[in-house]
Amino acid sequence: MSGPGTTGNAAWGGLAGAPQLVLSPAAEMEARLLAWGAYAPLTAFMDRAQYQAVLEWMHLPDGELFPLPVVLPIAPEQRTEVTRARWVGLAGSGGLRGWLEPTDCFRRDLEVEAQAVYGTTDPRHPGVAELLTQSPWCVAGPVTVVQPGILPYPEPADPAGVRAAIQARGWATVAAFQTRNPVHRAHEYLHKVALEVVDGLLVHPLVGPTKADDLPAPIRLEAYRIALRHYYPPERVLLAVYPAPMRYAGPREALLHALVRRNYGATHMIVGRDHAGVGGYYPAEAAAEWLAHHAAELGITPLVFDAVGYCRRCAALVSRRTCPHPAEKWETLSGTELRRRLAGGEPIPPEWMRPEVAAYLRRAVLAASPGQGG
Ligand code: ADX
Repeated sequence: MSGPGTTGNAAWGGLAGAPQLVLSPAAEMEARLLAWGAYAPLTAFMDRAQYQAVLEWMHLPDGELFPLPVVLPIAPEQRTEVTRARWVGLAGSGGLRGWLEPTDCFRRDLEVEAQAVYGTTDPRHPGVAELLTQSPWCVAGPVTVVQPGILPYPEPADPAGVRAAIQARGWATVAAFQTRNPVHRAHEYLHKVALEVVDGLLVHPLVGPTKADDLPAPIRLEAYRIALRHYYPPERVLLAVYPAPMRYAGPREALLHALVRRNYGATHMIVGRDHAGVGGYYPAEAAAEWLAHHAAELGITPLVFDAVGYCRRCAALVSRRTCPHPAEKWETLSGTELRRRLAGGEPIPPEWMRPEVAAYLRRAVLAASPGQGG
């Protein structure tokens, strides 16, 4: 092994005197994902050539599909010392995590990146808003993570752990489910249809930074544990966490979500209405279409779903493919409406959400914001 750890008397000895970068929570997660191989074939924070290629044609210069930039922003005043260094220490919330071997330092045009990645420069888009807070300067290079830190979840988080759990269950086919929302009945419908055709379901909630009005990850995780306990066959479902930031980049992010889940051991990827979308910026079916188009390149089979809602006439969860009644009459549960009802203590029908999940969420939301909704 080469690295600063081999030259010093302690694991970190060689980093003494090296510049140190304090990573944002999102950057800390991305460093760990790179080190784990979750972003394979990408194993380093991108250099200028990779960044340009990904922005322009969604592929790395060697031709491998990679849909979103993965870069490490640095403060402009750090770039001279970082470029000259052999190693740069990477510190996270809990102290030193590892190091980066700098290979390049470059400046981005944030507006150009916003337009290419998000299809808009509108600062009301949460991904654009977050991008515009970043420094345009980035340092590139491979990352070594020695202290990955402990996540506050007992579920597996790294690709090796998840692949081992899949292997232990003997599943040949596995459908992955990305989510950043509390589990509702339309989600459950997708899961159960998938379970009709694959050996196992990997429920893989994203637990990194999300926009302020999404429910906190620990609450969403607990809601999942409750739903799985009451309504899913335990031997056919694996709950694991995906510690990555949410970007709300719609179709491009759907491709990244599928690539990552392939690396976690999934053979199939569930993709439904407006996957990774926000506020009407992307056509609802675009993510599914893009994923279907790039599926062979990604090496994962998409399980594509139309919008699912509850039809009173059918007395069932349905989609356009299964129900003859006007879709305008279906009942659906938007995230905004769910939060309004939870905060106001209003009932949430069992067709929308399992009662055990709704009761837990109401308690958790009220506990997180005491004095509201009484
Ligand atoms: S996402 O940002 O992670 O995509 P969410 O957690 O709501 O948001 O969705 C998880 C997955 O379920 C996505 O593939 C999404 O397209 C799908 N999905 C969510 N709600 C519905 C619905 N009512 N009909 C069809 N698919 C849905």
